[in-house]
Amino acid sequence: MMGRTTELFTRCFGHAPRWVVAAPGRVNLIGEHTDYNDGFVLPMAIERHIVIAADANPGRQVTLHSETTGETASFDVRPKVEPGEPSWSNYIRGVIAGFPKTKKKLASFDAVIESTLPYGGGLASSAALEVAAATLLEAMTGQVLDPIEKALLCQRAEHDFANVPCGIMDQFTSILARKDHALLLDCRSRTTTPVPMTDPAVTVLVINTNIRHKLAESEYAKRRSSCEAAARVLAVPALRDATPAALEAARGRMDPMVFRRARHVISENERTLQAAKAIQASDWDAVGRLMYESHASLRDDYEVSCPELDIVVEIARAMGKAEGVIGCRMTGAGFGGCAVSLVATDAVLRITRKLDEAYEKQTGKQTTIFSSRPAAGARVLKAD
Ligand code: GLA
Repeated sequence: MMGRTTELFTRCFGHAPRWVVAAPGRVNLIGEHTDYNDGFVLPMAIERHIVIAADANPGRQVTLHSETTGETASFDVRPKVEPGEPSWSNYIRGVIAGFPKTKKKLASFDAVIESTLPYGGGLASSAALEVAAATLLEAMTGQVLDPIEKALLCQRAEHDFANVPCGIMDQFTSILARKDHALLLDCRSRTTTPVPMTDPAVTVLVINTNIRHKLAESEYAKRRSSCEAAARVLAVPALRDATPAALEAARGRMDPMVFRRARHVISENERTLQAAKAIQASDWDAVGRLMYESHASLRDDYEVSCPELDIVVEIARAMGKAEGVIGCRMTGAGFGGCAVSLVATDAVLRITRKLDEAYEKQTGKQTTIFSSRPAAGARVLKAD
């Protein structure tokens, strides 16, 4: 992972980099659109990363070269960092702008960015980019941030520089994930409970529909406002505090669409807690059932799925337990991107082939499928 990025840096800038850092993407097992409702999520980091190789430069400009897009961004760090083009550079600009002022003045730097994460594929590539940037700044300044502060800094970068009102799940996972564990995160108290995922008989598959809908970001903001509207009607600080019974009682006072959005969030919080327990008990039947229920709720009540994601889930469900599929659901914000499936390890090849063929037959498009063990959070790979 480190070798290639180091080589690219050397080719771009004529000398070896001083720092190399990596931050993983994530796949969320369950707990979708609950993080910004102060609820529960159960993600894990995946073995796909953003890697940044960098060195300080004596000038005033930061120069970033993205191997993924082939673009180079250059901007001044003083007097202050502003949003600008290309759009992916905003994730890094935002982190530099928000990084706490240190005794040691933040130097300008040159960097090469490489990624094994599909960009915009719903696997938190933007959070990984922010977290990699924050990890690089920590290494450069010698100032190690508290992990929660670091996650909030990265989230702010996304809110203020990329205009996406995201929750905290992706940044948290990219920082705090543990190898061989999913992370049950309470997004209100910001406490995490590691959930071991070490059963060798079970494999996590990520199935990319290779679809990305343009409206995803504006729809995300709309979902967030509907949840806030529902919380206001229910007179609770966040939907985390509402029960199914309280929602039912308020039905007549709520817009039907807002009601369905809230029903998704309230039921999804419950499913997430149940799934964490079921994984701990290796009750894979229960985990699978909860994943299918989560998908149906996201499709029908929250309306963030798309035909291609529904097709993947239906293909998986039709294979079912008999063919080694435990469960499947869309993962991430939705409107395209990836589905996640838990499958029997000894059936991975057969399942992958069947998913590939059936998806192409039904959509005329290709999927990209890979498996991943739960990976560790961001780290410095090289520092002098
Ligand atoms: C995106 C956001 C997260 C979360 C998910 C949906 O990934 O960045 O904060 O809201 O969507 O669960």
